[in-house]
Amino acid sequence: MNITVIGTGYVGLVSGICYAELGHRVVCVDKDLAKVETLQNGGIPIYEPGLQELSVKNMAAGRLSFTGDLRDAVGQSEFVIIAVGTPSLPNGEANLAYIDGAAIEIAEAMNGYKIIAVKSTVPVGTNERVAKLIRSRTPERFDSISLPEFLREGSAVQDTMHPDRIVIGADSDAAAETLKQLHLPLTDNIVVTDIRSAEMLKYASNAFLATKISFINEIANICEKVGADVTRVAEGMGFDKRIGHAFLKAGIGYGGSCFPKDTRALIQIAGNVDYEFKLLRAVVEVNQDQRMSVIRKLESIFDGELQGKTIAIWGVAFKPNTDDVRESPALEIIQYLIRSGAHVKAYDPIAMRNFRTMYGDNGVMWCDEALEAAAGADALCLLTEWEEFVRTDLGQLQTILRKPILIDGRNVFKEADVAETSFIYYSIGRPRLNQGVKEELSALIN
Ligand code: UDX
Repeated sequence: MNITVIGTGYVGLVSGICYAELGHRVVCVDKDLAKVETLQNGGIPIYEPGLQELSVKNMAAGRLSFTGDLRDAVGQSEFVIIAVGTPSLPNGEANLAYIDGAAIEIAEAMNGYKIIAVKSTVPVGTNERVAKLIRSRTPERFDSISLPEFLREGSAVQDTMHPDRIVIGADSDAAAETLKQLHLPLTDNIVVTDIRSAEMLKYASNAFLATKISFINEIANICEKVGADVTRVAEGMGFDKRIGHAFLKAGIGYGGSCFPKDTRALIQIAGNVDYEFKLLRAVVEVNQDQRMSVIRKLESIFDGELQGKTIAIWGVAFKPNTDDVRESPALEIIQYLIRSGAHVKAYDPIAMRNFRTMYGDNGVMWCDEALEAAAGADALCLLTEWEEFVRTDLGQLQTILRKPILIDGRNVFKEADVAETSFIYYSIGRPRLNQGVKEELSALIN
């Protein structure tokens, strides 16, 4: 099939490259010509394991190309995918300006029947809005499809090539069947439904996963107070097939380009039809508060006085294996520390450049290595569970810090390993280790 993908963000780029890998002829379009040039030269503007190799391979095979010329690309394709961004408006609603722009440009490029799918996460009714924009501008026939995307950053290629399911929202049986055949090599789990249900399904899935995370984070907070261990609680819960193990890792809350934006958008979508989504509001509130759990722990250790303390931060990406820092919990934590008068030394294996470009230097001392950031610090906070941090030699780390205080925001270190050190160790929803009596702690701190 000849496919055009509009937008080379995470979703568009990964989908386009993977469709080419399946043997289709794919043209990826973007307005950002510098980005197009990077892609044409075999570069990838995002960090995503395995993506660059796949892009270069498929370009060499003549199945994949990149262009700024939407009209030409659409003219050659029978299947057009809209995968442009839908950023949050100040009220939480999704901004559909890029979607509308793409629809209008597609309409102007129509030269025969096409299937036009929206892969971006969009509020219910957006596919109809796109169809209307196109229909009012061209007499050419087309079918609208909602084709939500469920890939995760960091494992995007794997998720796309081996999806749990494909969802096709259509009002044309023929178009649905064409897309079903297109996706059958990927999975047998293909859900064909109406357009509105497909649009809703995507928001509902993300909202449910966000709910699992906020739920386990609240359980973690209670565990800390009653002396239980949330990792054991989650493990035991997960064996119940109705609950499952996934997305029950307690930590400093979810971030990234999807969960925060999509939960806010779903609250708005509900609000627009006079429904208050109380549960989801609480999920968002809990997530916001959870970011501060690291701060609360530091304040309890330092008797509320962070002024003048040197705090090391490991990890600023919203999760490992990505350089994405959008809505990363690290931002608020770092900003709070700086506002409180602390000195912050930070390190992340690949996300520092993005962080600084997006949010500025924030008065942080950025370090080239993890141990350099830890050197001489009064406490170390682990905020992203990069493998590099998980493999740290805790014995060595302890000698480098000025004070052996470790706040593990992702529960990566094993109790037994920490117990061999004299780290004062706080994690999320697990017992504190080596805390000793308050006097000893105070002696160490002052
Ligand atoms: C998510 C969805 O998983 C994906 O289906 C959708 O298409 C886009 O949004 P992504 O944002 O890439 O993907 O990351 P994901 O791996 O889902 O993690 C999101 C956030 O939740 C991260 O900040 C992560 O640290 C956090 N998380 C995840 C937890 O805190 N605990 C968990 O158990 C799982």
